[in-house]
Amino acid sequence: PVQSGQNLRSPICCIMGHVDAGKTKLLDCIRGTNVQEGEAGEITQQIGATYFPAQNIRERTRELKADAKLNVPGLLVIDTPGHESFTNLRSRGSGLCDIAILVVDIMHGLEPQTIESLNLLKMRNTEFIVARNKVDRLYGWKTCKNAPITKAMKQQSKDVQFEFNTRLTQVVTQFKEQGLNTELYYKNKEMGETFSIVPTSAISGEGIPDMLLLLVQWTQKTMIKRLTFSNEMQCTVLEVKVIEGYGTTIDVVLVNGVLHEGDQIVVCGLQVGSNCDLNQSIVNTASDEGAPSQVTWLLLELALHEIDIVESLKTIAQLVIGTYLHHKEIKAAQGIKITAQGLEHAIAGTSLYVVGPHDDLEDIKEATMED
Ligand code: GTP
Ligand code: NA
Ligand code: MG
Repeated sequence: PVQSGQNLRSPICCIMGHVDAGKTKLLDCIRGTNVQEGEAGEITQQIGATYFPAQNIRERTRELKADAKLNVPGLLVIDTPGHESFTNLRSRGSGLCDIAILVVDIMHGLEPQTIESLNLLKMRNTEFIVARNKVDRLYGWKTCKNAPITKAMKQQSKDVQFEFNTRLTQVVTQFKEQGLNTELYYKNKEMGETFSIVPTSAISGEGIPDMLLLLVQWTQKTMIKRLTFSNEMQCTVLEVKVIEGYGTTIDVVLVNGVLHEGDQIVVCGLQVGSNCDLNQSIVNTASDEGAPSQVTWLLLELALHEIDIVESLKTIAQLVIGTYLHHKEIKAAQGIKITAQGLEHAIAGTSLYVVGPHDDLEDIKEATMED
């Protein structure tokens, strides 16, 4: 049993799957936002993180009346694109997470990027749950807004239940072909051996309470050690992007530790071209002459911004519609947007380091090179 007062960090959950399976829409459904409809061609092209505080999860799972004792401060969810050209982003996302949601469209079953995502998860031995999304598209589905899935299923006609079961059997068979046992989560007696399937609708919210509770309960039950907060900082650059009014910013995932405003940070940088105007904040340049680009280290003064989670619960990747809270310090796990001088040279996917008062900058530079 979990002891109260334990100092756990939030689990990091990556949402993956084939294009248009409904990953972003599922997050919209939990956040109460409409990011998905604002995307060009309805295609996610970047990776972004959203923090769901425990309070938010408690509210969404209330109807399940589980002994919903939340020992984690929240859940940090990373959205990834499903389009085939973004394998690198899926890999980056899956490399960071403690657990994943593999979204499978109920009308389609396993598709190429579902299988690709599955293989990324298998490769790293990452736990995941399957969201069997778009249940509302079953012919004759009766909407039960935001209801737990068993409650919603009871309201459905025999025909709907039959189609549901047929499609369930199909997908279980498809997973079997990939070497995996899967089962409806409330029938799954051997989680860990058999992967759980949660039927969901991102449009009407059925199954969302189940999905959230499953993620939180499973992580806090089986990953205590991994989720125990540590002061040893672990932080990865998710994306480098220009945001109007902020200049070049980096979105980072703080996996462990604490970041403070004013911390001196080091990120790995890539300088393209040879006569690039070096920002004074760059403290070293690799002497790899003649190379089209060279690695540099950026020493930066940290300014922290986090999405206003209380008011809007929007993703850090969607600053366009969001506002940022300004923080003095942020504790893991959290998605953070960092603004600083010189960030245009930063490389996504690499680690970020804080220079402590007794740290040797050379050691840190060596560490960044290992990424
Ligand atoms: P990419 O990020 O581009 O890989 O797609 P995605 O997996 O994020 O899917 P997205 O959220 O963009 O949804 C794709 C389409 O499916 C949109 O038109 C959504 O409105 C629709 N959709 C998503 N979830 C559901 C659902 O549960 N039910 C129904 N009926 N439509 C859904
Ligand atoms: Na899409
Ligand atoms: Mg998307």
